[in-house]
Parts: sequence; structure tokens; C-alpha cells
Amino acid sequence: MNAPASTCDATRPGTTGKSTTTPAGEVAVRLERVTKRFGSVLAVDGVDLDVHDGEFLTMLGPSGSGKTTMLRMIAGFELPTAGRILLHGEDVTEWPPFDRDVNTVFQDYALFPHMTVAKNIEYGLRVKKVGRAERKQRVDEALDVVRLGGFEERKPGQLSGGQRQRVALARALINRPRVLLLDEPLAALDRKLREEMQVELKHIQERVGITFVLVTHDQGEALTMSDRIAVFSAGRVEQVATPAEVYEHPTTPFVADFVGTSNLLSGEPATALLGDPAPVTIRPEKIRLGDAGETASDGEIAATGTIRDVLYLGSDTRYRVTVDAGAELIVDRQNLTVTSSDALTARGRPVVLLFRREHARPVTKSAPPPSEPGTTSSATTNPTEEDPDRGVTQ
Ligand SMILES: Nc1ncnc2c1ncn2[C@@H]1O[C@H](COP(=O)(O)OP(=O)(O)O)[C@@H](O)[C@H]1O
Ligand SMILES: [Mg+2]
Repeated sequence: MNAPASTCDATRPGTTGKSTTTPAGEVAVRLERVTKRFGSVLAVDGVDLDVHDGEFLTMLGPSGSGKTTMLRMIAGFELPTAGRILLHGEDVTEWPPFDRDVNTVFQDYALFPHMTVAKNIEYGLRVKKVGRAERKQRVDEALDVVRLGGFEERKPGQLSGGQRQRVALARALINRPRVLLLDEPLAALDRKLREEMQVELKHIQERVGITFVLVTHDQGEALTMSDRIAVFSAGRVEQVATPAEVYEHPTTPFVADFVGTSNLLSGEPATALLGDPAPVTIRPEKIRLGDAGETASDGEIAATGTIRDVLYLGSDTRYRVTVDAGAELIVDRQNLTVTSSDALTARGRPVVLLFRREHARPVTKSAPPPSEPGTTSSATTNPTEEDPDRGVTQ
């Protein structure tokens, strides 16, 4: 590939862990108030977002939150109802897909089953009438990037799921697009392979230096690979920030709940424990489970309660505690010495929950959906049903 070898350096957008909005650098994709309606369904609702050159940006959200529709509009397969899409400064809103300097990797890979790996990968170059020698050279390079050297003559049916995924990636990369769009590219892989491919996809992106815009409903995937994450809910972007920022400082209750597991405290229990009714979230791993009677040290909040439920998760145990002040809090504890039978006998035990005040993070309510006549916002499914891994990946 002739793309820059790597853009993984300290000046790279989104890697400082601090910037949450628009770090410096050229904008590869600019979305301006992009809206898409399908009849009465508002699939994408006024999205503003900049993706920077060389950045790995993930659009994360539950099923039906408008991610695929957003990606298809960037690719040109779907026309926005309103708003503008710019690629490297140029307004491409109404351009057809093949005029845009982007390529898409689809969830089902869409490989030609009767063609060899090499023929699948060089397909785009054949269409562009690139000569045989150059095709061969670029196929070899693409195979090298996805570590599939030696597989040229196989057919897709003779490959594993992970290898097919790599072929789909090579086929998109060989066209040397400036922006690569990926729609749930790892969803068809089993868990172990998916985790391996997460690391590999990130390495490939760093190596080729192409801007990646990836869509997923899997928060673990988003946290692992991305420079920044845009969290989607009901067609809107709730927060755009680095993975650490999204996890540690979620700005809305939706983000706090969708990315990882979190406890939301507001109203009376918040006043009783923190002296303020304003909503805050506390991550389960930030709460310590103390024995009844234990007192708080400086800067700590203590909440008495009773263990209502225990979930043994192997490496950790998750406790659901009813707090006397009127809330229910989830507490995670690593199983350093605790065994599964210890954990399970904990139910009904009086305890004291202790956490540092600064770990209770203020959140603001999400902006209310716009009330346009004849428009219903697309439904957001319960994220707990959406992803069985959710809440265990921390
Ligand atoms: N071609 C279409 N016609 C009608 N409704 C659609 C179409 N494509 C998507 N939608 C609706 O738009 C919303 C967003 O869908 P989608 O972008 O596929 O979400 P996601 O990729 O986040 O799961 C959903 O309510 C979906 O039913
Ligand atoms: Mg989708």
C-alpha cells in the first residue's frame, strides 16, 4: 500500500485522552446536522460530527439507533433528508458512491464464492482496468497487510470466518480509499476470534494510516479499538470522546449505562448520601463492600444496606445491594480470595458500601427528542438485551 506507514504518534488526534470534541488535524469526514427520515421514522436526527484524518472513530449504539443509516449516507448508498456530508473538505452529500474516496466493509463480507482469494481482492482493480503486473503487486501487499500470504488460490469456502474477514478487509484496502467504513465487521466471529481481530484491526489501521469509521453495538469492541467513540441513541450522538473519557466521564445517563455498567443515583437517595439531589453515576468497581459497622475514612461516603443478590462471574462477583437511603447499587469485587460458595452465601448480609466522593460523577439528562409533528423517534432497544457480554466487559 502506498499509504503513510503509520500515523500512530503523539500528535495523532484523539490519542491524548484529553480532547473530547475536535482535536487539531485535517477533517476527513464532516457531518453537519445530518438527518434521515424513512417515512415517519427519524433514523438519524441532526448529527454533527468531525472524523479526523487517520483517526479510528467508532459509532457505538444499540440496535436501531441509526448507525448503519449514518454509515450508508457517508458511503453514498443513502441520501440524507437534511444536512451536509463533507469528505476532506468537499461537499459530497449528493455524489454517487463510486465518486467518493471511501470503501465499505459489509457485515456479511459479500465475497464472491466462486472466485479465489486473489481474484476477490483484485476485483476493484480489475473494474478500474489496472494492469496485471500492478494488480499482482497490490494483491501481494494487501495480503501481507492482513497476514494472508499463501492463501491466494483458496476459495472463500475453504477459509475460516476470521480469514474471510481479512479477505473482505484486503479487498477494501487495495483500492487505497482515504476513508474505510466498517459495519459490524466482527459480529459474525466467535468471541475469542473477535477479540483477536479487534487488536489486529487496530494494528492494520495504524499501519495503513487510513481513516476508519466503524459501527458496532459492542461496547468492549469500541473501547478496545477506537481513538474516539461517538455514542448513538435514537438517531442522535450523545457523547463523542476517547474510550477512557466515555467510560470514566459519561456525560449522560444513557452513555453511563450503555458503556459498561453503572449506578445512577438521583433525588432523595442522592441527597441523603451526597447532600445534593443532582444525578450522578458510580461505576460498580469504584464501590468497596465493607462489613456492617465499618466507617468511612476521609473523603469517603458510607451507605448502609443489605446484599440482595449475588452473581458469580468467575473472575469477579457482582453484588446487588439495597441501600437504606432508598437506592439499589451494583458493586463488583475481584475474586482474590473469595470462592463461588462464599459469594453465594452473602445474600441477605448487612453491609456498608464505601466510595470516594469524586467517583460519583455528575451526569446531565439527555436532550429531549425534538417534537416535530408527524415524526417519531426510532426506538432504542434495551441495551441489556442487545448484547449479552455487556456489563461484564469493563
Ligand atoms: N430502508 C429503511 N426503511 C425504513 N426504515 C429504515 C430503513 N433503514 C433503517 N430504518 C430504520 O431506521 C432506524 C435506524 O436503523 P439503522 O440505521 O439500521 O440502525 P442501527 O444500525 O443502529 O441498528 C431503525 O428504526 C430502522 O428500522
Ligand atoms: Mg446496523
